[in-house]
Amino acid sequence: MNTLFLRRLTLILIGVAIILVLGIAVRSVVLKFKAPIAVETPIIVDVNGDSVTPVIPGNSEDTDNTEVDEVVVDETEKEVKVEHPIPPVTETETETEVEVEMKPQPELLNYKTVSFFMDSRMERYKAYALDNPTFSVEEIVMKVNMNLDYDFYTHIVEIEVPDDLLVLCNKFYQLPSDFTPQNLEKVPAEYHVNDGKAYDLDRDALNAFIDMSDHAKEEGISLKIISAYRSNEFQAYLYNKYKANNGEKNADRYSARPGHSEHETGLAIDINDVSQAFENTKAFKWLQENAHKYGYILRYPQNMENITGYMYEPWHYRYIGVETATDVRSKSITFDAYYAMNILSYKNR
Ligand code: DAL
Ligand code: ZN
Repeated sequence: MNTLFLRRLTLILIGVAIILVLGIAVRSVVLKFKAPIAVETPIIVDVNGDSVTPVIPGNSEDTDNTEVDEVVVDETEKEVKVEHPIPPVTETETETEVEVEMKPQPELLNYKTVSFFMDSRMERYKAYALDNPTFSVEEIVMKVNMNLDYDFYTHIVEIEVPDDLLVLCNKFYQLPSDFTPQNLEKVPAEYHVNDGKAYDLDRDALNAFIDMSDHAKEEGISLKIISAYRSNEFQAYLYNKYKANNGEKNADRYSARPGHSEHETGLAIDINDVSQAFENTKAFKWLQENAHKYGYILRYPQNMENITGYMYEPWHYRYIGVETATDVRSKSITFDAYYAMNILSYKNR
């Protein structure tokens, strides 16, 4: 009897022990998942450098036990970044961080992708873009570099190196009034029209013309100079005569004001016939195919008046050297555009 009682008591005690052990095990597991983890409350600094209390998304009442990497802060809804551990934040560092986060104006980035962009014209690019919202970024930079955000004969700049082979002389760039080209030479009589007048031209431009004219002659084409170098005084006389006869608006379409004519550089010539009919001659067609091989370009092409400032002049050619003339022709651009893309921006860097 006693033995039976002892066995039952032993079994009961073992059962109670198992229940106790299981109970402790279950409790410890439960506690492990429920126990709070002690972490420092992160110090969060907003964009003004003020510390703020973080509100953890989805757990607003339990801020002590959640690691914070990125939070939306208080009613100002400013997004701030918090590193853990949190470095001390000084006034200066806060300012630096804000600067880094400020993105440059998108248009500034875009303009800078254009190779001939000029920092000094940034405000003009922006203003021109506002007036011309359909233009591409490249068009904006190109037109402003050509000064086409200005009216012709405004914002005139005096040419610094008037003797340069690639000098740009147009309605925005003016030769000094006392300028005379250094290397003028007389055009031999057989290379200019027989009108009893004398013609002078830059030596290199003249040699190139002689070469061109000789080759054209071999193909049955006659090329003769009908206008070459003009002094400032002579250009003034011509322009004022046209202005008196046809009015300023008309004269400005085909005659340069004194100081603004390429003829004053000694690098420009008119060939054979100063009339639109010249376009229909064999000589004009030959020049279209060959002039660049001798360093000459058609300076005022058709439909380019808004760029060059002058109506179509099939007779007017400008000497710029074989390499540049070939480049300008292959791109079908004006010399004004070439200058805006390849010379101006590099000169002013
Ligand atoms: N005819 C050109 C534009 C000049 O006068 O120079
Ligand atoms: Zn001319």
